[in-house]
Amino acid sequence: MVRKTLIAGNWKMNGLQEDGVALAKGVALEAKKRARKDCEFLVCPPFTLLTSVKKALKGSRVMLGAQDCHYAASGAHTGDVSPVMLKDLGCQYVIVGHSERRTNHYETNELVAKKASAAIEAGLKVIICIGETEAERDAGKTIDVCSAQIMGSVPENATAANTVIAYEPVWAIGTGRTPTANEVEDVHAAIRKVISKKLGRANANKMRILYGGSMKPSNAKELLALPDVDGGLIGGASLKVADFMAIAAACPTLTK
Ligand code: PGA
Repeated sequence: MVRKTLIAGNWKMNGLQEDGVALAKGVALEAKKRARKDCEFLVCPPFTLLTSVKKALKGSRVMLGAQDCHYAASGAHTGDVSPVMLKDLGCQYVIVGHSERRTNHYETNELVAKKASAAIEAGLKVIICIGETEAERDAGKTIDVCSAQIMGSVPENATAANTVIAYEPVWAIGTGRTPTANEVEDVHAAIRKVISKKLGRANANKMRILYGGSMKPSNAKELLALPDVDGGLIGGASLKVADFMAIAAACPTLTK
């Protein structure tokens, strides 16, 4: 029993001040009511909401994360935000290598690894996202693609204590489609083997691997029950307090 379930909300580019604060307060209140104190909660709002959401979460058990960072601590990088700045603001986590960044901003495994390494260096925990496209899945390459992404995107300083992996099939994100439970478990188990090869068995056994991609109250129970699924990275359904908390409530066990 070493892996605590993590229920993480990725708000993406959503929310103005008022909505963001209301959502954060709602999640904080519901999380407080829960008897299931072992399950961890995280919300990752856009940069513009980090300060106000931090205030809204004050005194609650819900953690704060950002959705991306640069790898440098400071400097001439117009439009970027550094991991040191995120740490300074009060973030505990940062997501790196989300498929929307890999696609829309041409982020490579090498860049993702640099960002993750710098974030860990700054004292943040990282959620490193991986996942195959539909064409890769159709070609039977899911495990090869995910293995290559783990080998290339997970930095040398990653440990089970500072790193979480999120398996998010690109074709499942925001589409309402998901792989079958068996497929998810197969990929998660394969990911754990690759982590073992890269970071050793102890880290692999303790590292959390989240599933992401159209997770919702109706499929959360089955997905979260899988032996190698240690939580969820939730996009659309994290924008509604009731859906986000229903996913947490569907979690059958608190640790694996
Ligand atoms: P979704 O997004 O839950 O809306 O599919 C998940 C993600 O992209 O992290």
